[in-house]
Amino acid sequence: MITTATAPGKLIVLGEHAVVYGKPAVALAIDKRFACTIQESDATYLNGNIADFDSNPHIRKILEMHGLRNIAITTESAIPPSSGLGSSAALSVALTAAVRKHLKKEIDENDISMEAFEAEYTAQGRASPIDTSCSTHGKGVALNCPKDVGKHLWTISKCSESWDVSDIPVPRMTFVVGYTGIRAATGPLVEKVKKFREHSRFASDIIDEIGNITLEGMKAMNKNDIEELGRIMTQDHKLLSILGVSCKELNKYVDASLAYSYGAKLTGSGGGGSMIALTERPDLVCEAIRLRGGQPFVVRTGVDGVSVDP
Ligand code: PMV
Repeated sequence: MITTATAPGKLIVLGEHAVVYGKPAVALAIDKRFACTIQESDATYLNGNIADFDSNPHIRKILEMHGLRNIAITTESAIPPSSGLGSSAALSVALTAAVRKHLKKEIDENDISMEAFEAEYTAQGRASPIDTSCSTHGKGVALNCPKDVGKHLWTISKCSESWDVSDIPVPRMTFVVGYTGIRAATGPLVEKVKKFREHSRFASDIIDEIGNITLEGMKAMNKNDIEELGRIMTQDHKLLSILGVSCKELNKYVDASLAYSYGAKLTGSGGGGSMIALTERPDLVCEAIRLRGGQPFVVRTGVDGVSVDP
């Protein structure tokens, strides 16, 4: 039997890094998907080679959780790896769904998001469930948002942190992504912020401030106040830069986009990866990013989450 599942990438509108410490965050699913096909085999393969689990601890974790061996996994992705757009989480979500279908287990969003989060947590060392929840549910997802902003989906707890995951309405918005082409793994950036926070009261204040403005941004988005949301995104970029997770390319594309946008910021873990601009003039923003050496593209947000071939 051959089973295929696909899951979307995401962009984080507000709250990355701070969300690891239980602060609020907002993410939207994007129209770039990760596809995972599995079938029984004589050993465990990944894209035609014997699976290297040291490079793919999330895959090992998912197979272990389900006691599955001897499976050939084939992947195909439209999400650039280590780009801040959630390719690893989309893999974990798509593989979890494919494995559950293969084993004739229930295809339940809550179970898939929990298991995919376990896998990402193992791979990343420390993580929040923002990426895996958004990739599973799709549409718009907020973590730890006020009750009147979203509809509660599930709660995930790990160590001393807990996250209430909610579905939120997604207003009509146009986002341009500016990809730096620089691959930056999430784990080391999360670790960098952790060390900074442990050694500096200033860093934990910045994380609190990201949490505060993210709440304001959620309310603005809920009221369809795109101008205010953009202003808060730009403010968030400044705070993330102070935390040390931006880089000169991201700052350059953010600066260049601001002339034609409501707001712009890095998205995801940073250090390279991608930035986003919220705009009504996507062509001008794309041109500004391209002129500075970035790879721009317009994304559609609020798309469907994980899906398994019948
Ligand atoms: O760069 P990405 O897509 O892996 O986004 C990670 C978001 C962080 O907040 C930096 C980490 C996390 O697990 O929440």
